[in-house]
Amino acid sequence: PPTIRQLLAAPPSTYAPAIHVNGWVKSIRRQKKVAFAVITDGSSEPGLQAVFTDINLAKQLTNGASVKLRGELVDSRGAGQAKELQVAEAEVHGECDPETYPMQKQALTVEYLRDHCHLRARTREIGAMLRLRDSTTRAIHNYFEVGLPLLSSDVQSHYRQDNGFIHVHTPIITSNDCEGAGETFRIAPSSSEPSCRSASPPSSDAKPSDYFNHPAYLTVSSQLHLEAVATALSRVYTLSPCFRAERSQTSRHLAEFWMLEAEWAFTSSLDELCTVVENAIRHVLRTHSTSPDMDALWKQHPSAPAQARRDELHSYASASRPWTRLTYTDAINILSAHHAATGAFVFPPVWGSGLQSEHERWLAEQHARGPVFVTDYPAAMKPFYMRMNDGCAPDRQTAACFDLLVPGMGELVGGSLREERAGLLEKALERHGLDKSDYGWYLDLRRYGGAPHGGFGLGFERLISWMSGIESVRECIAMPRWAGRMLL
Ligand code: 4AD
Ligand code: MG
Repeated sequence: PPTIRQLLAAPPSTYAPAIHVNGWVKSIRRQKKVAFAVITDGSSEPGLQAVFTDINLAKQLTNGASVKLRGELVDSRGAGQAKELQVAEAEVHGECDPETYPMQKQALTVEYLRDHCHLRARTREIGAMLRLRDSTTRAIHNYFEVGLPLLSSDVQSHYRQDNGFIHVHTPIITSNDCEGAGETFRIAPSSSEPSCRSASPPSSDAKPSDYFNHPAYLTVSSQLHLEAVATALSRVYTLSPCFRAERSQTSRHLAEFWMLEAEWAFTSSLDELCTVVENAIRHVLRTHSTSPDMDALWKQHPSAPAQARRDELHSYASASRPWTRLTYTDAINILSAHHAATGAFVFPPVWGSGLQSEHERWLAEQHARGPVFVTDYPAAMKPFYMRMNDGCAPDRQTAACFDLLVPGMGELVGGSLREERAGLLEKALERHGLDKSDYGWYLDLRRYGGAPHGGFGLGFERLISWMSGIESVRECIAMPRWAGRMLL
């Protein structure tokens, strides 16, 4: 049988005389001679109205019960829905005790829903968010597959530029800490005995319980592995889970999150990296310019009316308004001038220190009034792999990198050119106190046919949160994991 979304989208001429739908009872309203139920199968909101003129058929139905209904799909005479199901037969797949059902009809708090995350996909908001994740994933694949239309006129818009990116899968288990921030989860088998004899001798800091006698971690970023593939396939991307032992209890941090990462060879242009990011996000925004799920999510936030939010995202999606790009040094100067004039910040902006969340948000919300790329941060605060800018004063060494900051959130994307000069990379490893022998394979990528290359990483839950107005990334993934929390 079709899903409810398919049914509601079908033209009347295609209705079968008798159709059947499967779903869960979202609500039920009984009158003397007629009963109305809203049935949902999660394929769309708000679901399908079922009308029972034989009220006996509705007798066993309760909120949350799973049902099969057979009847006729007709144009609805009532307000609020275009079509309704006139029910002729009803069958209960699974009952639901309304007395103990944890998902009662009244508004449930975010915290309560986090405690019941095995059931919360049944709520309107989480259902819409999950469908938004799906459509965003598809839009991302679509962008990397075909890119933006090459020609802007409507007539010619079917000529598409092939971006030439190849989607690849990278490992979850890794031996490195890409970001060098010490936020990796170390893995071990559940039994303390090694389950298999190692082929090579164990490394000096391995414990018998490690990964076959070698220290191993859950990946914090696919970047280094992507670089290995990009120096063979030229342009690659992945959308994969990343894990960070983050202590941060903020609305932007998870211990397990998904990251879109792209990496490509034969680029020496930070501007080009920013343009690919800008175009990719614009493509995702345009794909959602009419989205019932986005509308439903925006409506949850009366402080920012849906129309205003739609207009705002529409303006960011428009190619006629390029996103602001400025260097870190310029950002510090702009922030310092503003701070001197108004004393606006808790943390005075200082060259050489990271931008605080209040700085990032001010730059996006007040200065750029939209997404803003901040480029060329001091090298000392960045990971070892970033390419050094040439010609800097010794105490003002910067890296060819960027962060994309967006209103209401701050950092959404980070990226850089990668240091492809083997000698400089070895020095960077030393400066960061990293063991060169652990990065032999990474140095090989430079020693053997090294090519200038770069890429970026975009936090998928942050993108969902930013687009939809969902306040915390904890509500932007089905089963969130964050410091101290993992329920199932
Ligand atoms: O800035 P990050 O740490 O950069 C990297 O990992 C690079 N290796 C990516 C690359 O160049 N291929 O992370 C990239 C993005 C951040 O901008 C943020 O959006 C998201 O990943 N992110 C998180 N999202 C949710 N929870 C966390 N704990 C996150 N940490 C980073
Ligand atoms: Mg970052």
